Amino acid sequence: NQLSIIGVPMDLGQMRRGVDMGPSAIRYAGIVERLTNLSYDIEDLGDIEIGRPEKSPEEQDHQLKNLKEVADASEKLSDVVNEVVNRKRFPLVFGGDHSIAIGTLAGVARNYDNLGVIWYDAHGDLNNSATSPSGNIHGMPLAVSLGIGDESLTGISGYTPKIKPENIVIIGARSLDEGERELIKEKGIKVYTMHEIDRMGMTKVMEEAIEYVSKGTDGVHLSLDLDGLDPHDAPGVGTPVLGGISYRESHLAMEMLAESDILTSAEFVEVNPILDEKNKTATVAVALMGSLFGEKLK
Ligand code: ARG
Ligand code: MN
Ligand code: MN
Ligand code: MN
Repeated sequence: NQLSIIGVPMDLGQMRRGVDMGPSAIRYAGIVERLTNLSYDIEDLGDIEIGRPEKSPEEQDHQLKNLKEVADASEKLSDVVNEVVNRKRFPLVFGGDHSIAIGTLAGVARNYDNLGVIWYDAHGDLNNSATSPSGNIHGMPLAVSLGIGDESLTGISGYTPKIKPENIVIIGARSLDEGERELIKEKGIKVYTMHEIDRMGMTKVMEEAIEYVSKGTDGVHLSLDLDGLDPHDAPGVGTPVLGGISYRESHLAMEMLAESDILTSAEFVEVNPILDEKNKTATVAVALMGSLFGEKLK
């Protein structure tokens, strides 16, 4: 019951400013009080320092925007997360855009032989510089963790790959680029799109996903992108996609994860207070964490 919060005010993995204020927004929405009430021992390690871009937009690689800053932040985050795991505490990371998952996974996975990953997201984040429609690194972290992408990202913390395709489950996908679809097919990655969630219901999806991701793994990481939810429930995100997972379905998913007790680390990303409505999205994130950490089981 020992939890360490790490904020990552990163907004360089995409082009909409403001997501660097995500960690503040989540703290302001009361995360520490919420989890302290569940009798967790909480330690807030504050925010990782993020470098400012050195290159002007004209002189940088348009298919890997802000590569150096993202790589440097990932290296730092990896070390902080690793240290938390070594102290036998649960790392709870707040973004920042989803590029931070490169560092989180680099820090967690070095402590596991077979880390399972639940990727709760409208997107696959399985692009690389050749397949990306935007050049934004927040669309690449899952591929990078599989060892696909620029070496300065895949090589973070000196090892690659971080995770294996058979240990991943994507939930909520509804916006996949062509290259991402091909990679999913090629690697046989398990995906529950919105079609499966509608058709099977969230209960069955989570039962299957939990079983799938805990079989043969020695830890499970949850990477929750708030844009996995429908933009009506989570409007403060940079790349909203209509037709997403509802607030209630998301609570159910978090409660089922709490009951299963399989998680060993988690991150909540893409909360952008500038695009939000009165901090609604951070408030949703905090409510979901309440369920994830056992409010219903109390
Ligand atoms: N697939 C698009 C891209 O690669 C969008 C990625 C959105 N990713 C995210 N973490 N919100 O640019
Ligand atoms: Mn900023
Ligand atoms: Mn997304
Ligand atoms: Mn994402």
